[in-house]
Amino acid sequence: MAEGGAILVIDAGTTSNRAMVFSPDGAVHALAQRPLTQHYPQPGWVEHEAGEIWQGVLACTRQAVAQAGGVDRIAAIGIANQRETVVAWDKVSGEPLSRAIVWQDRRTAPACETLRAAGQERAVQAATGLILDPYFSATKMGWLIANVSEVRAAKEAGRLALGTVESWLLFKLTGGAHFSDASNASRTSLLPLAGADWDEALCDLFGVPRAALPEICDCAGSIGMALPEWLGAPVPVTGMAGDQQAATIGQACLAPGETKATYGTGAFVLANMGAQVPSSAHRLLATVLWQMGGERAYALEGSVFVAGSLVQWLRDSLGLIDAATETEALARSVPDSSGVVIVPALSGLGAPHWRADARASITGLTFASTRAHLARAALEAMAMQTRDLAEAFAADGARWTTLRIDGGMSANDWMAQDLADVLALPVERPVFVETTALGAGLLAGLGAGTFGSLAEAGKAMSGVRRTFTPAMSETVREERIGSWRRALETV
Ligand code: G3P
Repeated sequence: MAEGGAILVIDAGTTSNRAMVFSPDGAVHALAQRPLTQHYPQPGWVEHEAGEIWQGVLACTRQAVAQAGGVDRIAAIGIANQRETVVAWDKVSGEPLSRAIVWQDRRTAPACETLRAAGQERAVQAATGLILDPYFSATKMGWLIANVSEVRAAKEAGRLALGTVESWLLFKLTGGAHFSDASNASRTSLLPLAGADWDEALCDLFGVPRAALPEICDCAGSIGMALPEWLGAPVPVTGMAGDQQAATIGQACLAPGETKATYGTGAFVLANMGAQVPSSAHRLLATVLWQMGGERAYALEGSVFVAGSLVQWLRDSLGLIDAATETEALARSVPDSSGVVIVPALSGLGAPHWRADARASITGLTFASTRAHLARAALEAMAMQTRDLAEAFAADGARWTTLRIDGGMSANDWMAQDLADVLALPVERPVFVETTALGAGLLAGLGAGTFGSLAEAGKAMSGVRRTFTPAMSETVREERIGSWRRALETV
């Protein structure tokens, strides 16, 4: 049971909503989780019911608070969330106006192509750090306005609210506060990295009404007050960040150069770049890592769209395995993938390739190929995708010296070792891999005044790490890289 002063963290992810309760020493007192339904109405489209996100979060938070001994023990709420996913709702009724368009959704690829053909990419990237890709929120917002009559009508009536998942949850929790923290706002293509507020010209370019957007706030501080009807008493929301930024903080990547990779639904590598706005010449993203007291730290990011979702697909769509954890034993059961290579472009390719049109491939199959080879090739694809990013980070002057990994898939020891081998770098994994929730907890603890600084919060709440040391021969590594490159050329 938690002492007073505990922190309730909401982690609203792509495939599940979770709530956890931490005490200020980092101990976990409660965990509740609800799966989130994925809707695929057309190839390339991915949607969520915003109402289900809210109801799932509410159910989990109630369950976690009860497990932790009641609301009296909770001092603050922190939110971490799937980023870029867009929700449109009615400011007056508080009801969603359509399904949320999920970050993986590719429907705005033509809109991105039109903007690119019009020569807009360079200016958008220079201002926002983001390239033109359907991944980001702005074209999804533009699409909702252009294609959903309810959204258009709400806009005309001055009732339209647009936001990413943290602003939707904050609105529901507080009964109407409409804020987005700067780390989430920096994923929309509407916030200049060096600017404090939404940019009018970018809003016009993407067809997004400025009036429908939330106010931008810090990632830690007094953000809003959750209504007493939800948890039995009012609780302040004092921390908010995109899940990948939260994981970077939870991995204590607090100094420039420190880098983490999270293997969840996708894989996201972020390197802390300090207070100067970074830029990439190698197709990485520049993004806000956190904002506090109006001051920002920035990150370079490599976003890979498919990681754990590949294993899920092997399980749910192909029926090749019964549980994700089986992949480890399967990968170990064969000496290599026997030439099988999977390029997991199931929703196009993200960084550093940015090919919205790419389709996944499995190459090198023979009659001797087994499900063990396929499972191994799936895990090997994680290291290969990460290696492509390592090259881009190095070329941008942000070479990794070690990589801190986390996320559900990082629990796979075989994959962690393969990463160290292919990257030829030490790979560190914390014993407690829930770094996204931990990061949101650090921010909320800081915002509530429990800690004086992020460094102090990190010291109090973070645990020990295990290191995986590279052991692969140069020849095997080069062979792996060669087959990956050949396979990439075919997608
Ligand atoms: O940018 C998308 C990312 O925030 C999704 O994270 O953990 O839900 O896969 P996750």
